[in-house]
Amino acid sequence: MKYKGESVTKTFGILTSGGDCPGLNAAIRGVCRAAYGRYHMNILGIANGYRGLIDGDVRFLEPVDFSGILTRGGTILGTSREKPFKSTEIGEDKVRAIKKNYEKYKLDCLVVLGGNGTHTTGRLLAQEGLNILGLPKTIDNDIEGTERSFGFHSAMAICTDAIDRLHSIAASHNRVMVIETMGHKAGWLALYAGIAGGGDVIIIPEIPYDIKAIARHLNERAKSGKSFSIVVVAEGALSAEESRMDKKDRKRLRSDTGFTSIAYRAAKEIETETGMETRATVLGYVQRGGIPSASDRVLATRFGTAAADLLARGEYGTMVAQIGSGIGAVDLSVPAGKIKKVPKDDSLLDTAAAVGTCLGT
Ligand code: F6P
Repeated sequence: MKYKGESVTKTFGILTSGGDCPGLNAAIRGVCRAAYGRYHMNILGIANGYRGLIDGDVRFLEPVDFSGILTRGGTILGTSREKPFKSTEIGEDKVRAIKKNYEKYKLDCLVVLGGNGTHTTGRLLAQEGLNILGLPKTIDNDIEGTERSFGFHSAMAICTDAIDRLHSIAASHNRVMVIETMGHKAGWLALYAGIAGGGDVIIIPEIPYDIKAIARHLNERAKSGKSFSIVVVAEGALSAEESRMDKKDRKRLRSDTGFTSIAYRAAKEIETETGMETRATVLGYVQRGGIPSASDRVLATRFGTAAADLLARGEYGTMVAQIGSGIGAVDLSVPAGKIKKVPKDDSLLDTAAAVGTCLGT
């Protein structure tokens, strides 16, 4: 992929946007080292996502800025969930400010590291005439167009470690342990960590659950002599009854039950249905913190250096992606406005079912 001619991009801006995740710094390092070392580009670091470009909170980066950061968690640039196109009137001002600063710093391209929302904004900015290049990050692995996003592997390892630890508690106390992972709309993290941690039940948003079916499975386990069970649930999971409701009714039902998180609600439902002692653990932000796994460091570095090559060639309007086992790029329209969910016929679901895991139905 290495580009041999003169670099089309002379100066680019770089920002990280959306929820942070392990591997962001490794990716920043990958882009910057290759862009600076191989192609002699100028790099404008933008603080706190799109907000920094609105406010002009920026500074040119030197090699010292992107040295020694490969293993660091979080993002040296800071992040925010700023969505400049969201509110109409203020939104117009924000987009105007972004364009103004893009011009002011003579950017040839804006490199955005983020998830679905980040790429949706990136595409809208591209339609406003800016050159945009995306890198897919998120622990949810729910970005359309790429097999993997960096951050996912690290989060999976954290969740699996947590499930292992809770396993021994479940066994000692003869309990059902319900463990909640992140993943509002997509259940990749719960599914992978659930399989890796030997979950007896895995509940994901894509498959609305039936508590009676789950109770049957847990009772059968108990009858066969298994005194404990592990239930892994994604934060966005919903019951079959809820899946038939509109958003408003669902919200009302949830606030009536008094449970803010699915883990506590599922634990209560399991206890009521089976009479088994049940406990809930919400893994929360721990899943997104700390050092990236070796696998994420490699993926982020590959994405970063591939992004530098695309910048050099001037192949804007794209997102770097893992396609099969290689690294390529897809048009920004592929991830923008979409969420990659677990398909109903994903082979991993069959893998889970084949080892006796209940998928909530
Ligand atoms: O980055 C995606 C994600 O990890 C979701 O799974 C989760 O619901 C969300 O971030 C929560 O992030 P925050 O509270 O920081 O906005």
